[in-house]
Amino acid sequence: MNKAKRTAVIAGNWKMNKTPAETTALINEMKPLVAGADCKVVLCVPAIDIPAAVEAAKGSNIEIGAENVHFKDSGAYTGEIAANMLVEAGVKYVVIGHSERRQYFGETDQTVNLRTLAAVKAGLTAIVCVGETLEQRELGYTETLLKFQTKMALTNVSAEDLKNIIIAYEPVWAIGTGVTATAEQADEGNGFVREAIAEVYGKDVAETVTVQYGGSMNAKNADELVAKVNVDGGLIGGASLKAEDFSVIVKAASK
Ligand code: PGA
Repeated sequence: MNKAKRTAVIAGNWKMNKTPAETTALINEMKPLVAGADCKVVLCVPAIDIPAAVEAAKGSNIEIGAENVHFKDSGAYTGEIAANMLVEAGVKYVVIGHSERRQYFGETDQTVNLRTLAAVKAGLTAIVCVGETLEQRELGYTETLLKFQTKMALTNVSAEDLKNIIIAYEPVWAIGTGVTATAEQADEGNGFVREAIAEVYGKDVAETVTVQYGGSMNAKNADELVAKVNVDGGLIGGASLKAEDFSVIVKAASK
């Protein structure tokens, strides 16, 4: 396993937090703290905040992401946003299949796959989330489920397009709960994801794919998590809303 073949990405997922004005203020606070990072720094923000975020991040090493994308190019899909709209607004990344969308908004493995295909076709980098619930873990299904979700999300994705895909392993029981997976559990989960990719695309390709960990990653535990061989950065919820904490995580991934 060779970590040097992969880029570490620290991505904030702001979820439904921050107004446009608050977005400008928070990014201005973050910019000097994350300047010169030796990893990619991304902030995925609510759609309404995208113009403010892109403007505030100009000239810095912060790239902006969205939190969802629709799979059609255009049409009668009230409330949805197409990939080309995001691209034109200056968005580079998009979170797809977050467990909150799977849980509250009817997202399925199939729609996750369709959104992923639409994102990469438009030139976005997709951050595709997979993860088991506590019940699934306790029943012993973690490996089966992570491999299934990963392969379903990547259906019809070419090896070439895989360059624009990041998988985020986010155990559902660790999201927003303050309960972090141990570094060993994170490494194991990320390893299952990588094995699934290897089973479809081969080991060499799998070694180049960035696999993040997400779920209560914070300024205190980031060092230990990102040090693991299979953990190539993180998807950060709560701690990405605080400039200082987020910058500590970025520094941990830069070592
Ligand atoms: P959390 O969220 O860091 O607040 O647990 C992570 C995520 O949902 O991406």
